Amino acid sequence: MSATWNKSDWRSKPRIQMPSYPDEAALKAVEEKLAIYPPLVFAGEARRLKRQLGEVAEGRAFLLQGGDCAESFEEFGADLIRDTYKVMLQMAVVLTYGAKKPVVKIGRMAGQFAKPRSADFEVIDGVELPSYRGDIINDIGPTAESRIPDPRRMLEAYTQSAASLNLLRAFSQGGFADMKRVHSWTLESTKAAEGYEEYRDLADRIADSMAFLEAAGVDSTTAETLKRVDFYTSHEALLLEYEEALCRTDSTTGLPIAGSGHMLWIGDRTRQPDGAHVEFCRGVQNPIGLKCGPSITPDDLLRLIDTLNPENEAGRLTLIARFGAGKVGDHLPELIRAVEREGKTVVWSCDPMHGNTIKSGSGYKTRPFEQVLAEVREFFAVHQAEGTYAGGVHFEMTGKDVTECTGGLRAVTDEDLSSRYHTACDPRLNASQSLELAFLVAKELQNRDEAQRAAV
Ligand code: PEP
Ligand code: CO
Repeated sequence: MSATWNKSDWRSKPRIQMPSYPDEAALKAVEEKLAIYPPLVFAGEARRLKRQLGEVAEGRAFLLQGGDCAESFEEFGADLIRDTYKVMLQMAVVLTYGAKKPVVKIGRMAGQFAKPRSADFEVIDGVELPSYRGDIINDIGPTAESRIPDPRRMLEAYTQSAASLNLLRAFSQGGFADMKRVHSWTLESTKAAEGYEEYRDLADRIADSMAFLEAAGVDSTTAETLKRVDFYTSHEALLLEYEEALCRTDSTTGLPIAGSGHMLWIGDRTRQPDGAHVEFCRGVQNPIGLKCGPSITPDDLLRLIDTLNPENEAGRLTLIARFGAGKVGDHLPELIRAVEREGKTVVWSCDPMHGNTIKSGSGYKTRPFEQVLAEVREFFAVHQAEGTYAGGVHFEMTGKDVTECTGGLRAVTDEDLSSRYHTACDPRLNASQSLELAFLVAKELQNRDEAQRAAV
């Protein structure tokens, strides 16, 4: 990290996907307010996450990152946070069992409000409107007025993020995540689902092991790690006025830290090496994610790695591959080889969502579950062939019983999409699809272990 970096330097770089606020005075007033508000996360937490991601980079842990495509002001509420959190805990249990390794848990939560869009305008009911860019920027309502960027929305995003984080911290530290409660994380909507018995059987086995440990004198009152979890937050660092206003100096290291979330990522559309988003992210010491889509070349990637992680620190950089099913083999091997050749330490994670979005016959944006799964499998297979470590997965999912992605054991059909389609942006996996996917990833992890054992 350059000693000369300043949190406002991004302003002199080319920026895309960011709004121009018509009311500059209002923008300035909001920035000044946010600059004196407390940070939402603390430097020590971000450093701990970086250490844990360092373990993932070294092949000793696995990463689960998941949550909303776009959080919504209107959907905000304790039940939704609790339900998504429960599903993440369940997925993490399944993955821990499969990987036999600690699972680092990061939500796309408590700050995931800004969205890059593929076009500046969208047509709704025959009317062309400026695109919706996430609740932190404009309103999803289908009128030209709703779509005007309003800086005051940043204050609402801050408030909701603070309240979400408060609840997530309480769940993580206050007994809710106690391994003894493994059965209680099940949502009603998944109990009836085909395939649910697999989770119940696993939870039974875990409960048995807990009973055994308790008899042997180890339980969640004596072993803190069984009672609490570390749960981190993340979002795309897209709206840089907001990120800059919440940037602070870490009093322990004297280095800049983004105070808006533990991990920030750079989207596939805003990763220009000389652009504003890379400039901001290179200077904060948080763990950083970088989305890698089909247009990234090995040279681009190496340049970005040098800019974002010049000291080659393990855990600093997570590369989130999102190519689309059927395309992983065309792109990932050459990127992996470049990274290996240059001796760079990164976490490789798989986002099987963003390369697999299609328009369904009924007109909804959707993602076929089979394609999501196929991309995960391809990702594991490529790493296996290259002898590198597939370190994590990145999903858009929710605890709500939505019908946004098609397929899964409790098959959502094209016709079902309209029944509970609530997303503010991209289609999410519902609770039972998420759990099903976790089991399928766990199987990939088990196969990997078996193949490794067979090789020695
Ligand atoms: C996202 O993660 O919601 C997103 C827009 O991803 P990408 O930048 O990979 O398209
Ligand atoms: Co998305």
